[in-house]
Amino acid sequence: MNQKYQFFLQRLFYYVYGEKFFKRLAYDWKNYPSRTQIIQKIINQQKYKSYLEIGCDNDENFSKIIVDKKTGIDPLKGGTLRMTSDKFFEKNNKNFDLIFLDGLHTYEQTIKDIDNSLRYLNINGVILIHDCLPIKIWNQIVPRMYGHWNGDVWKAIVHTRTYDHTDTYTCVADHGIGIIFKRKNMNRLIIEEKDFKKLKFKHYYNNHKKFMNIISYEEIEKIFY
Ligand SMILES: C[S@@+](CC[C@H](N)C(=O)[O-])C[C@H]1O[C@@H](n2cnc3c(N)ncnc32)[C@H](O)[C@@H]1O
Repeated sequence: MNQKYQFFLQRLFYYVYGEKFFKRLAYDWKNYPSRTQIIQKIINQQKYKSYLEIGCDNDENFSKIIVDKKTGIDPLKGGTLRMTSDKFFEKNNKNFDLIFLDGLHTYEQTIKDIDNSLRYLNINGVILIHDCLPIKIWNQIVPRMYGHWNGDVWKAIVHTRTYDHTDTYTCVADHGIGIIFKRKNMNRLIIEEKDFKKLKFKHYYNNHKKFMNIISYEEIEKIFY
């Protein structure tokens, strides 16, 4: 069965049994800076020396980043090391200035990748996470059944927004760029639901500015201190 047909059948099934909330956020990503521009700008401004990318695919981003030391992890293609993020963090003993998470786009894997990254982040370093702002319900359903797949990475951002020891933001650019610092949380999210996997898209749609701690590209500089 080809992928388009399979996605179509999965969507039909979801349409009957899944959450029915079909409003969309109005972001048009071509009007915003790219992940590569954001990563490079931060590396240059902060004079960062080491970069780790989890999930490199065709190296569309990885190959363009200019920095002293680059490590890229992917079990299938791209980067510099052929393995999953879990395998990498099991053996790793190096710290990094900037870690870009763009591997498996599920809540469970992303929160694991964030927690592992926090252990190997240099003081004054930062973790960036791709695909944090799905526009419509189809983009964020697990398993993937639509063209652009954000997955439910956004739920991992909501989760870290409740941590005491991390300060989390989401930049409105390139499908949503999560930004996590290892420092006291400046604006801790209070939320009733503690099982973050259970959060609904409707809940996200109605509260995403608060949940995700939204900032603009221009505001990025201000949150580094
Ligand atoms: C969206 S692509 C990455 C795109 C790339 N970062 C970019 O900016 O162009 C996701 C990649 O994550 C990889 N991946 C999937 N599961 C992974 C895992 N457990 N650990 C690391 N990478 C994973 C996939 O093989 C795929 O190449």
